[in-house]
Order: sequence, then structure tokens, then C-alpha cells
Amino acid sequence: MQKPCLKEAKKRTNNMVFTKNYQIDESLKTLGIGKKYFIRTYGCQMNEHDTENIKAILEDMNFIETNDMESADLILLNTCAIRENAHNKVFGMIGRIKHLKEKKPNIIAGICGCMAQEEVVVDEILNKYNWLNLVFGTHNIANLPNLLKKVYDGEKQIEVYSIEGDIIEEIPAKRDSKYKAWVNIMYGCDKFCTYCIVPYTRGKQRSRKMNDIIKEVQELKNQGYKEVTLLGQNVNAYGKDLDSNYDMSDLLEAVANTKIARVRFITSHPWDFTDKMIEIIKKHDNIMPYIHLPLQSGSNRILKLMGRRYTKESYLKLFNKLKEIPNVAITTDIIVGFPGETEEDFQETLEVVKTCKYDSAFTFIFSAREGTPASKMIDNTSLEDKEKRLHKLNEYVNKYALKANQKYLNKEVLVLLESKSNKNDFLMGYTENMKLVNVKADSKFLGQIVKVKITDVKTWSMDGEIILPNTK
Ligand code: SAH
Ligand code: SF4
Ligand code: F3S
Repeated sequence: MQKPCLKEAKKRTNNMVFTKNYQIDESLKTLGIGKKYFIRTYGCQMNEHDTENIKAILEDMNFIETNDMESADLILLNTCAIRENAHNKVFGMIGRIKHLKEKKPNIIAGICGCMAQEEVVVDEILNKYNWLNLVFGTHNIANLPNLLKKVYDGEKQIEVYSIEGDIIEEIPAKRDSKYKAWVNIMYGCDKFCTYCIVPYTRGKQRSRKMNDIIKEVQELKNQGYKEVTLLGQNVNAYGKDLDSNYDMSDLLEAVANTKIARVRFITSHPWDFTDKMIEIIKKHDNIMPYIHLPLQSGSNRILKLMGRRYTKESYLKLFNKLKEIPNVAITTDIIVGFPGETEEDFQETLEVVKTCKYDSAFTFIFSAREGTPASKMIDNTSLEDKEKRLHKLNEYVNKYALKANQKYLNKEVLVLLESKSNKNDFLMGYTENMKLVNVKADSKFLGQIVKVKITDVKTWSMDGEIILPNTK
């Protein structure tokens, strides 16, 4: 048994990061024959991509995917630890699995992802949910075949490393989409914002080598993919941990030069955004004009307590530079009710929102996470007041999101049609600057980037009609 350890997870050393290749023993490839798996994913794109890896590993072992948990032989929850409500959802689901397991004791159930990296969570599992068969961490995904072998041999498995982490290349992926793909460019995070649990659950910042990333993008392009999203908690810091002379702007340019149709990247911490990056974005038509630039707070006092390393003024300066990128859309993340946030601090956040008029924003109430510095800060604002702030903030966010969309009414945009929409006869996709559009179009257009005329706009989506080349 290898349990997670918060003390270890907090450490950062200069230890070498090893790059290894994924390997699976041939004998394990028959383990899943005749068995179905169900996996539910919580959290961010990184977790979604980890799930794509886990699915491919399981299918390499001949498990078959099912969307019906009741009929599964193996149930996995890929969890998120970012806020209390993500945590609660998972424990709710564990309760449901318990009922199933009472009816079908042979079901194998396990959890992985960021909650598995939390010492308190694994202790709780051992105390209260000891019937779970498997717990594995974000650094242990590549070892899943061996862990499952032991589980099927009747041994409960807990394997969560709290080491800073290595890089495993060549993990297969069963991608959700045939047209757009996630590509990890780095793992972990060293920023240690005081509220955030990610540096403890994902380990230290480890960048993949540029050649490995370009090879993956090139392969995706050859397979017909139209879009890649370069993933990292803090992509602008890409390469800083490598013994090399390239950085995020060089990587962006190299990815753009593969000529894949669309290149995106998330998330950008304002601290590491360089002028050179902005120039590269402007220079290449296939780097999409969409930037997610988390603000978190508009009060310098709170930003300092959050350990964000920028001020309202430097944020706005960067924001204005980014606004010069033609047709750019900028979105953000904001936390209200950070410990000690006063009504005046909150008003400062609102002022920034009124200035920036974001295309959209994810807004959250602060949630204390075990082991983070902010969880020990004195917090004397009532939940009721925090909810009022969130509500007020969302009024502005929604207003500006609608306004940003309204600019597109009757205009032409380019949309990559990626799947059927919930609306009959409609397909859905995103514009270059990440606006969701439902397009009345035949499904033969799936996977194509088409010209669309916007016919209706709402706060979170737009409707449009395809403009065929010969109707222009
Ligand atoms: N790496 C990204 C953020 C990843 S987490 C960045 O630094 O920009 C996504 C968002 O969740 C954060 O931007 C933050 O707004 C929110 N978040 C993180 N920890 C939180 C906490 N403890 N309580 C509330 N919101 C939190
Ligand atoms: Fe968390 Fe900050 Fe790292 Fe983002 S940059 S993952 S908010 S510690
Ligand atoms: Fe959640 Fe882990 Fe992502 S905590 S937001 S799944 S990095």
C-alpha cells in the first residue's frame, strides 16, 4: 500500500524528472476479456484527457466501455479536488456504487485523479469505504494494468505517489472527438497560489520536450484532427523547467508550423505572458484568438494574499495588449469570498469586470482546501454575503457575455462542426474565438470548418446557418 502524503506533496526539489515510455506486459492484455468498464470524470481538461488515457489502457486490456454504470464490471471515478462541491459529488457517487456492489459483489470499484492524491481523502476511504478495491493517483496511471491484475487476484490496491512526478510518453489515448484533441505540454504546477490544491495533487511543473509534443500534433494532423488544445495549469511557463533554450512562444510557433488548422492553449497565468507570445499569436492565423486569463480578484490586497504575483494594474496592462489581437475573445476565472475579502475588495473586482467586459467568466465561491495556506486564514464573511457577491458578479458577467455575442448577429464566422447539437437538425461547434454556435446543417459537415451566418444570439450560445461556397 502506497498512501499519499501531504508533507511529501508540498516538497519541491531539483531532482531529475525522468521521461519513460508506457509499457504493458502482453500477459495483461487478456485481463479485460468479457468485462465492461464505466468511468465518470470530474474536473478540468487535464482530468478529461487522463480519462482518455485510462480508457485506451483499459481497451488495450480488452475491457469494453459502457455508459451504463449498472451493467459495468469495473467502475472508476476520475475525481477532482478543486472545491468542496466536486469532492461531495464524488462521495455521493461512491454511495451509489456501494448499493450496486451490495447487489453485485463482484464489481470492482476504484477512484483515481486529484482526490486520490489527498491524504485526508484516502484516510477517509480506508476508514469508511474500505470496500473500494482500487485507489490510484495522477502519477500512477501508467501502472493501471499491473494494479488491476492484483485487484483481480483478490488484493485491494492503493498506489498513490506524492513524489514530484515523472513524464510518461506514449500512453495511448481513446479520444472523445475525431476532430479536436487535447495535448499535454506540461504537468503539475509550481505557482502555489494560496487557495489552490493543484500543486499538491499534480506535482511539480514538468514540461514535455518540444519534439515529443510536435510529434504528437503531427500524428494528430495526419489522422485528420483539425484542432489541438495545448494543456497545462500554467502553459505560459512552459519550458522554464527544461534545460533548453525554448519557451512557450517557440512551442506555439512550432505547433502552428505543423499547419494543423487550429491551435489553442489553456490556461494562461498572467504572470508569464510575454510580448513575444502575443506577437506569435498575431503572426499565425492558425493560433486561435482566444485567451483564458484568470483574474481571481481585482483587489491588490487580495491578489497578494492569494499569492498571484501580479497587481490589478499589471493585469489590466496585459489585458489591453491582448485586446490588440484581432477578433480576440478573453475569458476569466474569479473567486469571491477569499478569506478577508471585504465589500470594498469585492467592489474592486467588479470594477475590473466592468472594465474588461469579459466574453465569459467562471465564477466561484472560495472553498477551503486541506493543506493550503488559505485554509488557515481567518475568514469572517458569512456564506450568505459570499453568495450575494457571487450573484452580483454573475449579473455583470452574464450581461457582458450577451453583449459580446450580440456583436456577431448577422455576421459571418468560421465554425468547426464537432458534434450533433441537442437541437434537432443542428450541429454544434466553436468559432475561432471560442463562441459556441448551433448550426443548422446536415451531418455530412461534421469535422469541417464552415462559414456560418449568425441568426440569433443568447448569453451562452448563438444560432447560425451554414453559408455554402456556391451560395455566396
Ligand atoms: N491553473 C489555472 C487554474 C486552475 S483551477 C490558473 O492558475 O489560472 C481553475 C479555477 O478554479 C481557478 O482559476 C480558480 O478560479 C478556481 N479555484 C481554484 N482553487 C479554488 C478554491 N480553493 N476555491 C474556489 N475556487 C478555486
Ligand atoms: Fe492553482 Fe495557481 Fe497553479 Fe493555477 S497557477 S493551478 S490556481 S496554484
Ligand atoms: Fe480538479 Fe485536479 Fe483539474 S483538482 S481542476 S482535476 S487538476
